[in-house]
Amino acid sequence: MTMQWSPMLVIRPEAGSARLEDSELRVAETVSAATLAEQIASGSAVIGSLVTSEPGQSNPVRADWVSKGWRPSLEYFDWSEGDWSEVDGEELAEELVTETTTPGWRWGKLVGITPASERTVGEVLIHRRTVRSYDPKGLDQAAFARILHDFVVLLGGTTDSGGFRAGLKSAAIVYGIDGLTPGVWNLDLRNEVAALARPAELRQAMSDLMCGMQAAKTASATLVLIADFPVRQRRFPYERALRELYIEVGRIAQWLILASEAHGAGCLITPATNDKVLCDMLGLPPREAPIYTITLGPRKPARAGAGES
Ligand SMILES: Cc1cc2nc3c(=O)[nH]c(=O)nc-3n(C[C@H](O)[C@H](O)[C@H](O)COP(=O)(O)O)c2cc1C
Repeated sequence: MTMQWSPMLVIRPEAGSARLEDSELRVAETVSAATLAEQIASGSAVIGSLVTSEPGQSNPVRADWVSKGWRPSLEYFDWSEGDWSEVDGEELAEELVTETTTPGWRWGKLVGITPASERTVGEVLIHRRTVRSYDPKGLDQAAFARILHDFVVLLGGTTDSGGFRAGLKSAAIVYGIDGLTPGVWNLDLRNEVAALARPAELRQAMSDLMCGMQAAKTASATLVLIADFPVRQRRFPYERALRELYIEVGRIAQWLILASEAHGAGCLITPATNDKVLCDMLGLPPREAPIYTITLGPRKPARAGAGES
């Protein structure tokens, strides 16, 4: 009989052995490579000590989640009920940092917050509205760098209480920024360094994966906030942690919206993306997943007599 492997089964090859993990069954064990090879070759219903299920018996919701690229968040939830009292938070504390091993380009440090207008934060907040269509002139490199710089300044001015930003990183999908190659850029916000990961024209692909939302067609860029789930898991191994991650990412997005608005740019925030496609586009390893997107571009000039759009 053909057996069906659990959608949560992970086999990690090691020297002469393999590590088997199934977060749904809450099993993690090491088996010898010879035993594993024998079990697989004989079509055994047992892999290591795990009993595979017959077709139709495994949970279809889980299989669906895995096919959508949500495996890491599902594993996070599965493994999150353990004893977490011995976790060393300090060791893992880190902020929104991307590993850019080969920084190919530096946007440069720009001094201080440089609001484009005299508007107060309160006025910016009151007039902020989601913007889904942008001025075709686009942002230039210096304006985008100013927005990111001010975003980092604003983030830095807020306490990361509890280290909630651990394991978060970001990438920018650039569509049309004067002076920048369109494509996927990995960002190291702390050092203000961006590394071009993949040159590509991605307006249509992004519009498609954002459930048909049209913002990417005229936007300058989309910033993607990404979670490294194993880092989150070690830092926050409790059940409420997944919810905290979503809330924290939302809070971070608010700072980018503020920085954008201060420089005359509008934003569309949404987590409504086809995550599997976005993972592939960003070249993320299986341990990481996108959580939130902020699409931005210059606001169109206000028409005489028209309100904010
Ligand atoms: C959790 C979340 C999910 C969203 N999903 C979608 C979506 O599926 N489609 C869409 O057009 N906008 C989506 N948005 C954007 C909201 O529709 C947008 O914030 C809304 O237009 C509110 O307008 P305002 O920001 O001007 O108040 C989403 C926003 C959030 C926070």
